[in-house]
Amino acid sequence: MSETDEDTPQRRYPRLKVCVNYRAGDVLPSCGAKGSRELAQSLQEEIAKRGDFITLETVHCLGKCHIGPTLKLLPYGPFLQRAQAADAACIADLLHTESYDTLEGKFSSPVDVEPPQRKP
Ligand code: FES
Repeated sequence: MSETDEDTPQRRYPRLKVCVNYRAGDVLPSCGAKGSRELAQSLQEEIAKRGDFITLETVHCLGKCHIGPTLKLLPYGPFLQRAQAADAACIADLLHTESYDTLEGKFSSPVDVEPPQRKP
């Protein structure tokens, strides 16, 4: 461990996954079709402005397609749902200040949304 590592407090969630899966059409919903690619780009820029304090990873599906865009804090962190590119600065601020309760409150999973039924 370097001297710098010893001086830097460990963050609870050092990684953020953003689903950028895109499915065309309306048979199945997807985060990419709901703006997650633009969100990922804006988040990366806002995180960079704050010193790259968290690692953003783009992934293809986190299993919550019908309530996306879907983000997941790692390790063992909460899912964040339905953020858009316009929310990137707010999310980066809340992550940077480790205001996880506020972040979850703003982007929690909706409890009243049922997964869509497959069309015959
Ligand atoms: S398409 Fe994003 S969670 Fe499945």
